[in-house]
This record gives sequence, C-alpha cells and structure tokens, in this order.
Amino acid sequence: MRVLLTGAAGFIGTHIGRLAVERGHQVIALDAYLRQAHGEHAAPVPGVHRLDLRHDSLDDVLSGVDVVCHQAAMVGNGVDAQDLPDYADHNDHGQARLLAAMARVGVRHLVLASSMVVYGDGRYTCPEHGDVPPAARRVDALDAGLFDPRCPHCGGEITWRLIGEDTPFLPRTSYAASKVAQEHYASAWCTLEHGRAIALRYHNVYGPGMPADTPYAGVAAIFRSAIAREESPRVFEDGGQMRDFVHVHDVALANVLAIEKVGQHDEGLTPYNIASGQPCTLLTMAETLAGASGGAPPVVTGEYRRFDVRHVVASPAAATAGLGFTAQIAPVEGLAALASDPLRSAPRPRQP
Ligand code: UD1
Repeated sequence: MRVLLTGAAGFIGTHIGRLAVERGHQVIALDAYLRQAHGEHAAPVPGVHRLDLRHDSLDDVLSGVDVVCHQAAMVGNGVDAQDLPDYADHNDHGQARLLAAMARVGVRHLVLASSMVVYGDGRYTCPEHGDVPPAARRVDALDAGLFDPRCPHCGGEITWRLIGEDTPFLPRTSYAASKVAQEHYASAWCTLEHGRAIALRYHNVYGPGMPADTPYAGVAAIFRSAIAREESPRVFEDGGQMRDFVHVHDVALANVLAIEKVGQHDEGLTPYNIASGQPCTLLTMAETLAGASGGAPPVVTGEYRRFDVRHVVASPAAATAGLGFTAQIAPVEGLAALASDPLRSAPRPRQP
C-alpha cells in the first residue's frame, strides 16, 4: 500500500515508518520538525520531507495515497495555558487541513494517533454504586497524602477497572482536549466523505529513541533521563498509580495492522485502546527500570501534580478482536531494556 506518514521523524513515527517498509508498504514520510520535539535547528532525517500541515500545500503529496497514518502532533502535558494555542494549531488546525486535502484528492482511509488521555480519570467500581467516574481529586486530601479517589455519590472507597472504548471522554489537559477534538474532526470527515478511520488510543509508550526529559515528555522518558544522569527516578504521590506501559515496537505493529485493515472496517471512526495488557504501579515500573540500570533506586516523594489522573488502565481486548493486535513485548522485559536504550537528545525546555 502507498502510505502517507505524518510525524515520521518523531519517536513513534520513526518506528512505524521502518516497520511499514519492512512489510512491503511504500511510505511517503513527512515531518514539520517541531522545535518542541526536535530542538531549534533540527537536521532533516534522510527520507523524511519537511512539511508543515498548518501551512504547506498537501494535495501533491496525497496523490495516489491509499492510507494516511497521522502521527504528527504536539505531545505531552505542556507547561501552562500559554501552550493552548500551539496544541490547537498543530493538532487540530493541522489535522483539519489534512482532512480537507484528503477530501479534495479522494483519500478515504485514515489511521489516527490518539491517546488514553481522552478518558481523563478513568472508571471505578463502588461496592454500593457500581460503575462510577471518580469524584474530583481534592487538594486537602492530596496534601494529606490521600491519593486514591473516592466515590462521587457516597465518598467511599472505589477500585479502578479496565477501560473500554465506550468510556466517555473527560479530557483534563490541553493535549487531551486536542486529541478529543482530533477524533471528533476525523468522525466528521468520515460522515462527509464516506471515510474510514481508526483511532489508536495509546497507553504510556516507551522504547528506544524516545525523547529525553522535556516539559512535554511522559514519565518513562523522565525516569530514563534521570538514570542517564545517575540520579534516582522521583516517583510522585505514593507510587501506587496504575498505568500500562506499551513498547513502541508494539505501537508500530498496531499502526501497521490498522493501515492494512482500515479498508475492511465499517465507514466511520473505530477507536482501539493500544496497551500491553499488563498494567503495573508506577513504583514497580520505576524499580524495574532502575534495577536494570544498576543505578540508584527510585525515591517516592509524595509530591503531586494537580492535572495528573490517579489510575487509568485500558483494555486492549477490542484491538485483539478488530486488528489481530496483541502486544509482543512484556513491560518487565521492555522496561528493563529501556535502561540501556538510546534516547533522542533533548531540546532546551521552555520555562513558564
Ligand atoms: C501519559 C502521557 C500522555 C499519554 C498517556 C497515555 C505525557 C506527558 N503524558 O500520560 O501523553 O497519552 O500517558 O496513557 O507524555 N510522575 C512521576 N515522576 C515524574 C513525572 C511524572 O512520578 O517525574 C508520575 C505522574 O505524577 C503520574 C505518572 O507519573 O502519576 C504518569 O505521568 P505522565 O507520564 O506525565 O502522564 P500520564 O497521565 O501517564
């Protein structure tokens, strides 16, 4: 298949491009080389054309394309509200221009990088009230070291449960809001154009080539960078936060399967959670990584960030049924390997 891959010089895009070529696809690779991800004066990666979805003409590069695999985005939590226009501009305006160009050229298949962050706080079970969203986290409780959320109805203890794709959106950050909007724009495009789209909602992605510690990096990159500096990973809250760490090779596999199967899906947007299926606490993750590095063990600091969610764990069952995707790399192996995997060097962080 002829595949247009955006964000092809990025962490995940690099792995998708390599695997897609290995599986016999022809890849047209594009990247805007964003300063936030690549630094101020990034040298272009061989074979990856510089193109900014917000400004540049897209019709020519879409000619003859069967599927667009759209990974280009501004990622991470960001620094503060001053990042909002950039998230909207890159992620939403950029994608809207891409979809309009696909409509002009007649490309009707899309694979979209989405994220678990669309679900926000996740879902829980209350012994009395059943399936509930958690009550908003309270500063006084967090200050007292009480990190687990409570039932919104009775205030009692609740337990996290696996999230399916039908869980309501509850974006809590600028990035999350932009990913929800990207899914909505893709749905609208499907309706208008009889398009087929697959949105892959990634869990916490890690692996070789991940960006080093920046305000836009996730916790795996932050911990890996601490290890490179021979420092302890600093685990916030009490380390009991549940996540699912999924290897970038598995994320690339899910994308290539989606590229190959989107044409067999129904019209409209189909979302799939992409996870390892083997969740763990953040402390276990930090211990696995630090243990494999032979360096200092993690420290649990008790600090917290207001925008963080406590537990969020996705079920990958639908991706197995719909794409034939099952993660190949267990976190216990992949996270140990991350201790010596190379990182991409960091651009200078923006200060608030
Ligand atoms: C992360 C990604 C998000 C992705 C999602 C998929 C970032 C910034 N976030 O969200 O883009 O879509 O996974 O599930 O890339 N923490 C520490 N020490 C630190 C930094 C963070 O303990 O130095 C803790 C946080 O308090 C939080 C957990 O690690 O509890 C995860 O943080 P982070 O990776 O930033 O965010 P996620 O919500 O998992």
